[in-house]
Amino acid sequence: MKKRCFAVMAAAVMGLSFLTGCTGEAKNEDVKPETTDNIVSDPDNTDRKDVNTENPAENTDDNTDKATDTPENNTLDNEEKNRTDNLTKSDNNADNTDNLISVGFAQVGHESAWRMAATTCAQETFSESKGYNLVFVDADNNPETQKEAVRSFIEQRLDYIVIDPIVTYGWNEVLKEAKAQNIPVFLIDRTIDCDDSLYVAWFGSDFEGEGEAAGAWLQTYLEAKGRQDEEINIVTIAGTIGSAAQLGRTRGFGKYLNSNTNWTRLEEKDGMFTEEDGKKVMKEFLDSYDNKIDVVICHNDNEAWGAMEALDEAGISYGVNGDVIIVSFDAVHDGLKRVLDGKINADFECNPLSAPYVADAINDMENGKKVKKKINYIDEGCFQAEDIVTRIEYGKKTMRMLTVTEKMLEERAY
Ligand code: AHR
Repeated sequence: MKKRCFAVMAAAVMGLSFLTGCTGEAKNEDVKPETTDNIVSDPDNTDRKDVNTENPAENTDDNTDKATDTPENNTLDNEEKNRTDNLTKSDNNADNTDNLISVGFAQVGHESAWRMAATTCAQETFSESKGYNLVFVDADNNPETQKEAVRSFIEQRLDYIVIDPIVTYGWNEVLKEAKAQNIPVFLIDRTIDCDDSLYVAWFGSDFEGEGEAAGAWLQTYLEAKGRQDEEINIVTIAGTIGSAAQLGRTRGFGKYLNSNTNWTRLEEKDGMFTEEDGKKVMKEFLDSYDNKIDVVICHNDNEAWGAMEALDEAGISYGVNGDVIIVSFDAVHDGLKRVLDGKINADFECNPLSAPYVADAINDMENGKKVKKKINYIDEGCFQAEDIVTRIEYGKKTMRMLTVTEKMLEERAY
């Protein structure tokens, strides 16, 4: 308990203490990539491959091999681990948590319904009744706060650290500090650009695949509607610029923007994954492009809800039989409800339930087993309002499009 209070207070204080940034020379992958600024207005950048480590798909084989070849990366040196365990346990004695495994979780924030589901899942997974002492920090979308949270976990000598990284860059120094203290680090949801020996494993979504799926669906949908030769104007309300989710979705959808020469991306702007910013950005798009917009790509459901409010206020119809096609990502319960209502045309799932995979990996490590894979994708579905596109093909994948039903909503876990 004491530790938890400390972490919450630390998070508040850390918001003010930006002075303790990274020390030493930053590596290339540790600085904000120039591409994140350019993405907003330059569609040609969407296909760039120069910063590619946020896309684990390209590294799967290598990383898997490395994890198998160098088990010490995953299991730590046992002696050193025992030392860390003892320190943690003696620290914990006063709290009566000496039999619990301590896990620090540096969460992105609370910007979306998806995020809240991910937080609930982590809190349920790492509960005391399941044998954990969870130290949770909500970084409120501030990368510096998040790194300081990780530093506080290291200072507290927690047994394990879990990070859902806000942005892909700037992680090397703090992860080296965790490694120096032999604290295993897990990444969930978003990926980072760093030396992959600095974390044990990552569990999350194929963001680039999600973007490609959205592009493939739009192409097939427009063909099914006989609109394949029409000029199609597209705006994108992006997620937090520089996050793996934004970079991957932008890159994946960008492939279809490039190959459909009759599609024009008018603009892409940061909607911060929130309803409020989604609405604000949509209003700006309406001011700039008036009635020219055919498609709005929203990087998550909250942004889509904000965009819908702006369209409602402007008296512009959208969704099934509307003037504007809305495409979204996440497919949380309330997002799928809008799909069922015909307000969102298609929604591509991003699964927030990754914490149990980390718990399994921790369990393996506690039992002296290797964590099997470094890169782990979670299965995700593709949803639509009209029963019009049967399947989509992109890359090497074929996905069935699911037309949302009441039953699906009733069974939805988040
Ligand atoms: O990183 C996953 C993204 O972050 C989800 O799409 C979004 O809702 C969340 O805030």
